[in-house]
Amino acid sequence: MKDLKSILTQVGDIFATEPFLGQPEGLYQPIAYTMGLGGKRLRPTLLLAASHLFGGDMSRLRNAAIAIELFHNFTLLHDDLMDQSPLRRGQPTVYRKWNPNVAILSGDAMCALAWRYMLRYDQNRKDQALECFNETTIGVYEGQQLDMEFEQRNDVIIAEYMTMIRQKTAVLLAGALKIGALSTTAADEEIARLYDFGIHLGLAFQLQDDLLDTYGDTAVLGKQTAQDIADNKKNYLYLRALSEADAAQRDQLLALFATKPQGSEAAEKIERVLAIYNTLGLSAKTNEAIAAEFDEAARCLDAIGVPQPAKLPLMQLTEALFGRKK
Ligand code: IPE
Ligand code: IPE
Ligand code: MG
Ligand code: MG
Ligand code: MG
Repeated sequence: MKDLKSILTQVGDIFATEPFLGQPEGLYQPIAYTMGLGGKRLRPTLLLAASHLFGGDMSRLRNAAIAIELFHNFTLLHDDLMDQSPLRRGQPTVYRKWNPNVAILSGDAMCALAWRYMLRYDQNRKDQALECFNETTIGVYEGQQLDMEFEQRNDVIIAEYMTMIRQKTAVLLAGALKIGALSTTAADEEIARLYDFGIHLGLAFQLQDDLLDTYGDTAVLGKQTAQDIADNKKNYLYLRALSEADAAQRDQLLALFATKPQGSEAAEKIERVLAIYNTLGLSAKTNEAIAAEFDEAARCLDAIGVPQPAKLPLMQLTEALFGRKK
């Protein structure tokens, strides 16, 4: 039986031996740059851990692991352009280091490359795995569209936000798990439980992402903090603040999130929003919502009928994510 560390080593080995280079260099360099910056490699780790959970052979999932990580990184290239984010993994984002057209086209190529690797998935339930990958990618786009539409709206409610983050983030974690599990003999009902585990893990993960955007440390996180405030994102902290605010705070928040000021005025906007969040105790409240999703995820994992040691990597991963700082 394996632990999380050995799966992380296996994931590390996969990406260490895949250069992502080609011609024309202008197309592939941004891809190699992004993939070389690493990140947590969460989705391929979930994919391999899911195969391990049901007694599969992880070494046969190399192509699927690369596919899911390429797809994730493609979404980041476009997301950083859409969100106007300057930093990713502690380095300039692709659209800043090169330009927006490069981020669009290298991103497009990454999506196509992801499919090239996914088509090499050579397990019994290949059709189901391809369908899952396809549905997952469409889900992410739907979530990203909602995320962008919410920037312009001032009537978003928390239930809509949860639907949005389910699509933009949770389905990819759940999809990675399902694609890993489909390479094994696991029964459909067990795979469905694992998928639900992934959804709750993904909801917790995005709530944490929102929290870190507000209260994280740029040097550790590798991303510019308060980007969501600058972008008028209706993230969990904002929506929860609105629901807890008194009339005066509410008017202030609505006014602050109706503009996108530049320079010193942008810094002032962030300061005023943070003051309201701090007064309302948003950090603790968001942490409670995160803990509730982690609990739900743990219940889903508990319900899967495999011997306890097979669950170890996923349990360790859940624990490692809880309280993450990046
Ligand atoms: C960032 O994903 C995008 C979100 C869904 C919040 P990660 O936090 O997994 O990014 P990397 O791959 O570790 O950099
Ligand atoms: C990202 O949401 C979801 C996807 C990339 C699909 P965010 O926009 O919050 O992610 P970060 O914070 O930029 O990593
Ligand atoms: Mg973003
Ligand atoms: Mg975004
Ligand atoms: Mg974010």
